[in-house]
Amino acid sequence: MAEETLSNLLAEDRTFPPSDEFAAQANGTQAMYDAAAEDREGFWADQARSLLTWETDFTQTLDWSQAPVASWFVGGRLNASVNCLDRHIEAGLGDRVAINFVGEPGDTRTLTYADLHEQVQRAANALAALGVGTGDRVAIYLPMIPEAAVAMLACARLGAPHSVVFGGFSSDALRTRIADAEAKVVITADGGYRKGKPSALKPAVDAALEGETTVEKVLVVRRTETEVEWDEGRDLWWHDALEAAEPTHTPDYFDSEHPLFILYTSGTTGKPKGIFHTTGGYLTQSAFTCSTVLDIHPETDVYWCTADIGWVTGHSYSVYGPMSLGATQVMYEGTPDTPHQGRWWEIVQDYGVTIFYTAPTAIRACMKWGSDIPAKFDLSSLRLLGSVGEPINPEAWMWYRRVIGGDRCPIVDTWWQTETGAIMVSPLPGVTATRPGSAQLAIPGISVDVVDEAGNSVPDGHGGYLVIREPWPSMLRGIWGDPERYAETYWSRFPDVYFAGDGAKKDSEGNIWVLGRVDDVMNVSGHRLSTTEIESALVSHPKVAEAAVVGATDTMTGQAVVAFVILRGDAVEEADEEGEGAELVAELRSHVAKEIGPIARPRQIMIVPELPKTRSGKIMRRLLRDVAEKREVGDVTTLADSSVMDLIKDGISSGS
Ligand code: WTA
Repeated sequence: MAEETLSNLLAEDRTFPPSDEFAAQANGTQAMYDAAAEDREGFWADQARSLLTWETDFTQTLDWSQAPVASWFVGGRLNASVNCLDRHIEAGLGDRVAINFVGEPGDTRTLTYADLHEQVQRAANALAALGVGTGDRVAIYLPMIPEAAVAMLACARLGAPHSVVFGGFSSDALRTRIADAEAKVVITADGGYRKGKPSALKPAVDAALEGETTVEKVLVVRRTETEVEWDEGRDLWWHDALEAAEPTHTPDYFDSEHPLFILYTSGTTGKPKGIFHTTGGYLTQSAFTCSTVLDIHPETDVYWCTADIGWVTGHSYSVYGPMSLGATQVMYEGTPDTPHQGRWWEIVQDYGVTIFYTAPTAIRACMKWGSDIPAKFDLSSLRLLGSVGEPINPEAWMWYRRVIGGDRCPIVDTWWQTETGAIMVSPLPGVTATRPGSAQLAIPGISVDVVDEAGNSVPDGHGGYLVIREPWPSMLRGIWGDPERYAETYWSRFPDVYFAGDGAKKDSEGNIWVLGRVDDVMNVSGHRLSTTEIESALVSHPKVAEAAVVGATDTMTGQAVVAFVILRGDAVEEADEEGEGAELVAELRSHVAKEIGPIARPRQIMIVPELPKTRSGKIMRRLLRDVAEKREVGDVTTLADSSVMDLIKDGISSGS
C-alpha cells in the first residue's frame, strides 16, 4: 500500500515556482540556506537575537553535552509574554489589532495588542493571587476564545508552565493529564460553541477533580452562560478575578531553558506523553518560521491559522509565533460548516485574510462540499496558503491551490511534530518551486535525513525513516517526569539521531515526501491517536475481553480507527441474539468517545472470535489492517495459529 501511494506520489512532477512579485517581498531567502549551511549555530544565534528581545544576552548558542537534552542560548534570560506583548507596546504598536475574534454564533470581538497586554497582566496578577508561582503548572481547558491566548501568555509571564488540554478530550483524559503534570490551577469555561450549540466544559473539569487531586483552584471563563455547578472554596469566575486584579504586572525574566509548556500527545503506549518545551529556543524557531515559512509581514498581513490551541499548531502558530512577531490574526471558535459550509471563506472575505494555514483533512472536507461554495466569496486577499498535520495528497493540494488560492498563492506543506515545536521541513514560499504532495526540504538551519533500517542515509529516489541529525532550537527537552522514555522513544532506534516515527522518501531531486507513521500511532484528521490507548479504553468496558485497533486508510480523514474486539463469555451469547450485536457495537463506540474524546470514536468495530498473534503474543496489526482495508490478507506464517485469519474473516462476514 505504502509503495502504491509512493509510486503515485513520485509520478507527481508538476512544479510551481514563486512569482517574481512574491519572491521580491518574501522574508525567507536563499541567502538564509547559505548562511545556515556555512555556520548553523551562528545562524540560529543571529535569529534568536534579531527576532527576540532578551533581558540578558546568551553566552553560548548550543550546549549538547547532556545529549539528548539540549540547552539553547545558554545564559540568556527572557520572558515569552514580554516578547509577545510588552515590546510591541513599547514600539508604539499598542493600537494594532492582535486578535479578530469570531465566535461560532456570530459574535465578534477585536482585541488590540494593548487590550491583550492589559488582560494578560490582570490574569497574571490573578493567578499569582491564587498562589501560582514560577514553575507551578496550570492546566488550560478552554474553547478557542481569546481568553485561551490570554491564559497561556499569563502563565508564560509568571514562568508557570501551562498544559493545554484540548476541549474535545474527556474528563478522564483531563484527569490523567492534570495528575501527570500535578497542576495546581485549572482554567476552563462554562462551555464553548460547537456545531451550533453550547458544548459544556465545566462538568468535565468537576468530574476530573473528583477524589484526590493536586488542583487547588479553578478559574472559569463565562462564555455560553449555561448553568454550572459551583464549588465555593475552589471555583472563581475569570471575569471577577481579572476585575479585582491590578492592570499592570512587572514581569520576571527566566532562563532560556525555563519550561514554557507541557503538551500531551499520543505515543505508542497507552500513556500519553507530556512533551515539554522551554523558552528561548522554542520562541526563536516559532518566530523564525512564522516569518520565513508563513511569510508574515506584521504591518500588512491578516493571518489565520485554524488550529485549536489544544494542539501544538495552536501553540506555535496561533499564539507564540505570530504574537512574537506582532501579527494581526483571526481566531474562530467553531467548526468550518456552522452555520453553513462557506463559513471559513466568509471569514476570509470579511477580514481580508492574507495568509491561511490549515490541515489537509479540512481541505478534503471542503473539496467534498464542492468548489461552488468558496466561489461565492471574495478570496482575492489571500496570498499564501499553508498545510500541516498529515500528508496532503496531490489532488487536495491542487484543489487548494486552484479553488482557494486562485492559482496565485504559493502553498507551503509544513512537516513538524509536537516534539519538534515548530516547522522543520517545508518550502520557503519565495524561494522553492513547490511540488504538490511534498514537504520538500529542511528549512534553513535544520538537518533532516531519510535513513534505512541500519541508519544509513538513503540515496535520492529511495525510502526509509525520517530522522533529524542535529539538535534544533525548538526541540522538546523531554517527556515530563520520564527522561528514560524520552531517550528510549526518540534516540534509541538509530544512534545519535532523532527518530520522528514517520516513514519518508527522497525523490530524484532530494525532496522529502512524508508517508505517515511507521509506529502504532494513527493520524486521524491530523490528530494523533495511539492504538494502545484506544485498546485500553475498549478493554475497560465490562463486555470486552480483548481488543486490537488499527488505522485504516480513509479518503476523508487520512486514517480511521478500526477496532477488533473479542467479547467476554456472556456478552458473546447476547451479541448473537438478533440485533444485539449492532447495539453493542454502538455502545462500544460511545464508550471510547467517553473515555478519550469524540475524535477517538472508532469508525468501525468488528466483533471477532480471535485475534492474530505471533508466538510471542504480539498482535499482528498488519493483518488486521488488511482486513480493515478489505485487502487480500498478507503473509500469515509468523502467526501462532495460522487459521485465525480465516476465523476472523468468517466471523465478520457472518456476524456483521
Ligand atoms: C504528521 C502536528 C505529512 C506526521 C504539527 C507527524 C505530517 C505527526 C505533516 C505529528 C506533513 C505533520 N506531511 N505528515 N506536512 N505534518 N504530519 O504532533 O506523521 O500532532 O509525525 O504535530 O503528524 O503530529 P503532531
